Amino acid sequence: MVDLNLLKSCFNLSSLKLQVKLVDTLDSTNAEAKRQIAEGNTQDLLIISSQQTAGQGRLTRTWFSPKGGLYFSLVTSPRLGQQFAPLTSLLCGVAVANGLQSLGIDNVKLKWPNDVLVMEDKISGILNELVLIDSVESRMVLGIGINQNIHTSEFPEEIATRSISVLDILERVTSPESLLCSIINEIDRLLGIVETEKSYVSILTSWRVLSGTLGRRVRVDDGTRVFSGYAESLLDDGSLVISTEVGREIVTMGDVTHLRSD
Ligand code: BTN
Repeated sequence: MVDLNLLKSCFNLSSLKLQVKLVDTLDSTNAEAKRQIAEGNTQDLLIISSQQTAGQGRLTRTWFSPKGGLYFSLVTSPRLGQQFAPLTSLLCGVAVANGLQSLGIDNVKLKWPNDVLVMEDKISGILNELVLIDSVESRMVLGIGINQNIHTSEFPEEIATRSISVLDILERVTSPESLLCSIINEIDRLLGIVETEKSYVSILTSWRVLSGTLGRRVRVDDGTRVFSGYAESLLDDGSLVISTEVGREIVTMGDVTHLRSD
């Protein structure tokens, strides 16, 4: 269980004014975040749960959420307007990668749009949702799950082979407060950059440096078609440019699989 006082004492925030809610068990921290928004909570809010009974992943998948992992949702306003909401996922990926690196984990890479990998295995997933309140107002729910103090050998077989955890890599238990705090402080810092520069350009530059997708052969499933190609670049709206045998494709949503180049 996260120690709330320890957590609050390490926050160093300027962009976020956080209310923190710590729970032992929830269905999903994203679902709870959306309930709070529906009840009229307009504050920046951090919801943390020690475990989730119905953790949600992207594309209607589930997120395996036993005790030992880190599961949280941050609710805040979309910076620079709703149309930039997809870029917040990339921002969160950068923050999680930096948080993992601060624990001493090397080879952290980002897979478009929002998976965090170590040695090609998934260590963290991000589920960001835009919640419209009325025609002008909206809130962002930034949901982040990290395989922290649990061995992936205990995961269900179908995900164990593609997953890795902080415990697998470092072979020691690490502090959830430290990891959570460095990620939240980093999200706050990156949001501050977006506000100052009125642009996500710096965030995209950091994402490109951390990317494991750019320069790779990939298979794309955009919901309507599946095709393969070479991930050429990331555009300033966060979409991925794939060069295929028949020309260029611009992917704005969907699922990417990294392929071996041989
Ligand atoms: C994915 O990789 O498909 C995204 C996984 C996101 C999981 C996190 S855990 C905290 C938050 N609450 C949820 O129900 N999902 C996100």
